[in-house]
Amino acid sequence: MSEKIILTGIKPTGMPHIGNYIGALKPLIENSRHNKTVVFIADLHALNSIHDAKTIKQHTYEIAALLISMGLDMNNAILFRQSDIDAVYKLNTLLMNITPKGLMNRAHSYKAMLEKNAAAGDDMDAGVNMGLYTYPILMSADILLYNTDIVPVGADQKQHVEFARDIAEYFNRTYGNLFRLPEPQIGADAGLVPGLDGRKMSKSYDNTIPLFADAPTLKKLVMRIITDSKLPNEPKNPDESTIFLLYKHFANDADVANLRRLFENGEIGYGDAKKMLFNAIDAQLAAPREKYKSLMSHTDELDEILATGAARARKIANNTIERVMRAMLG
Ligand code: ADP
Ligand code: TRP
Repeated sequence: MSEKIILTGIKPTGMPHIGNYIGALKPLIENSRHNKTVVFIADLHALNSIHDAKTIKQHTYEIAALLISMGLDMNNAILFRQSDIDAVYKLNTLLMNITPKGLMNRAHSYKAMLEKNAAAGDDMDAGVNMGLYTYPILMSADILLYNTDIVPVGADQKQHVEFARDIAEYFNRTYGNLFRLPEPQIGADAGLVPGLDGRKMSKSYDNTIPLFADAPTLKKLVMRIITDSKLPNEPKNPDESTIFLLYKHFANDADVANLRRLFENGEIGYGDAKKMLFNAIDAQLAAPREKYKSLMSHTDELDEILATGAARARKIANNTIERVMRAMLG
């Protein structure tokens, strides 16, 4: 087991899709088999866009149930709800005072919102609440509270982790070396999984396969994958086929090599390849999907798991916040 502390937060904004799973959740779950892993459900971060308590709570349960049913190793992982840890609100307030406003102005997600407003001819700050504007400060608090070394994230979050590092450096320069400097780690497959239309699978393109779609829905979605019009006996390039690119993540090496050969030799049509893909995904997800359903119908068990995780997280967080308060306030 490595001594490095690996931490990530997952925003509860809806059922993750296969792209999220392969790009972000699977590496995290695999990591938990060998290393200490801190994972929390970032419900405070979801607050800037979701203003309905029931929805946030439901999505929080979904992420917890999904991680557990897909095999997060609960011996090595601390799994909890961000809002259960009082120290994170404190550290957020404290870090506000050493974070330059200019740093927030540079945040990609905030800038994207301004650009969207400008394009629509709206007021520059329309729809921007302070939760969105100061999002990177809360995220820094998450990261720095738990003495994090490595933060596995998608490319879109890299800048936020760099901000956490910048903020830690400002702090250390002013108050002494208290924070470890975190580093982002971008997964090899992050952002690469194609969706039904061949573009990156993404909620924003409406081309996703939800991880726990039931079998009939899964089949329907797989059958809807867009292909070119090559006939079954024409050779096809597997590396340009969404079907093959998804299959790679769900079948064993021999089956992947077999489908590659069938594509290259023009020995399979897209319809049959889709059936193989559906069977491969379903074979891998059927059991976790049942476990997920069972956990979702026993949310009291999830509450207990999250409470246990929060108690473990609190020990680390309280230790950090005490030291930070002493350094800043005496
Ligand atoms: P979406 O594009 O659907 O809104 P997010 O931006 O919320 O997805 O991404 C959450 C996580 O899932 C990130 O770590 C991101 O890198 C990963 N991810 C999202 N889409 C894909 C994809 N198509 N392939 C691989 N990883 C992805
Ligand atoms: N901002 C991340 C996202 O939108 C979620 C998140 C919150 C996070 N706090 C974090 C990720 C700390 C890594 C570390 O996906």
